[in-house]
Amino acid sequence: MDFLKIYQTPKLSGHIDISGAKNSALPILTATLLSQTPLTISNLPNVADVNTLLKLLEILGAEYQSLTPHRITINTQRVRETKATYDIVRKMRASILVLGPLLARFGHCEVSLPGGCAIGARPVDLHIKAMEKMGAKVDIQNGYIVAQAPQGLKGATIVFDKITVTGTENVLMAASLAKGKTKIINAAKEPEVIQLCEILQNAGVSIEGIGTHELEIIGSDGELLKMQDIAVIPDRIEAGTYLCAGAITNSSITLNKIIPHHLEAITDKLQEIGFGFEITHDSLTLLPAPKRKAFEITTTEYPGFPTDMQAQFMALALVCEGISSIEEKLFENRFMHVSELQRMGANITLKGHTANIIGGEDLKGADVMATDLRASSALVLAGLVAQGSTQVHRIYHLDRGYEKLEIKLQNLGAKIERLKE
Ligand code: EPZ
Repeated sequence: MDFLKIYQTPKLSGHIDISGAKNSALPILTATLLSQTPLTISNLPNVADVNTLLKLLEILGAEYQSLTPHRITINTQRVRETKATYDIVRKMRASILVLGPLLARFGHCEVSLPGGCAIGARPVDLHIKAMEKMGAKVDIQNGYIVAQAPQGLKGATIVFDKITVTGTENVLMAASLAKGKTKIINAAKEPEVIQLCEILQNAGVSIEGIGTHELEIIGSDGELLKMQDIAVIPDRIEAGTYLCAGAITNSSITLNKIIPHHLEAITDKLQEIGFGFEITHDSLTLLPAPKRKAFEITTTEYPGFPTDMQAQFMALALVCEGISSIEEKLFENRFMHVSELQRMGANITLKGHTANIIGGEDLKGADVMATDLRASSALVLAGLVAQGSTQVHRIYHLDRGYEKLEIKLQNLGAKIERLKE
């Protein structure tokens, strides 16, 4: 297994290109199951989760060709298999995103329950309830969601008790082929959800309310869509992670190929801490802070502060003067990085879902273990400022969502290398 060795790096500099968004690429790939025509998808991030989902689609019968590591053509016309098996789904819970399209297109499917993960139970009850509301019969058999809608799905009004990103995406895809109108109340409106709406709209689906918590979709009544070629939007969480690398070393770095508007919650918080920015339409330069002040964060749905940036800001809090507090409101167990940071000398106390971090303590390099995708990146960030060297193990978690993280950090001047255990 690989691990990352990070040496204390006082300063970063230079610029990097941000990759396509993993959390946009995944629903885009499953949406191709709704297309009667082959299509090209560009700006795909070359990360493990995308490759895992491509493998699942291939098992279902899709055919794809990699034109470059970031560009594929995909044809799902010969898909006949409708079972997403446990061995794939357990590797990547976002495989649940095949539920809506398979059920809508074939009238039946079996999708393994994804099970929990390090950050929480992560149930899919809201996905299942929505499919039933659209006329499907859904049973849970031997750990599989067995869904049937032999007469096709019907439009319905879906009210989500909680805002769910992939739940909204599953309903969007199912509703696109359903008969009649579907309304989604309390829909997610993350940029990745907006891109999926735009893609479906470009394929001929009538969708109202894009970018709001209320969506109205008129389905095609079973007719497959003519999907157009797609360019995946930039990854706002990858961008935020590198901004935190610049912030924790108080450096000036530039991120290219981004959409600054998607980063507003992150840049607003960095500004509050003491940083400045130079922003163009597709790039952003971080300017060092004369003094880095402690801060407060409560994670919430977009456009609020993203839960996927919580761990990275906890690492940043370690170098901010004063006591910062971070409240995690979306997931019940997204503090797995705390104990690893404490092993490096971090002074963090947990009270329920709130972490209090005393900044300014000396951090010492140590062997630490990645537990989930974003926690892993927080350990790498802490390694940049800890004395000596830090070894981050189990970085397969990182490789799920960050493309060439150590190469990008090396390009910013970080002393980091990927080694074999
Ligand atoms: C998406 O996960 C992202 N993944 C996550 O990113 C992200 O953390 C999360 O949204 C929140 O922004 C992808 O887009 C592939 P949810 P998702 O359904 O859709 C509860 C990363 O690091 N819930 O919005 O699975 C759930 O338990 C990953 O890239 C139910 O109770 O998250 C959670 O508390 C991690 N029942 C809350 O809703 C359901 O049926 C939000 O979950 C569904 C969700």
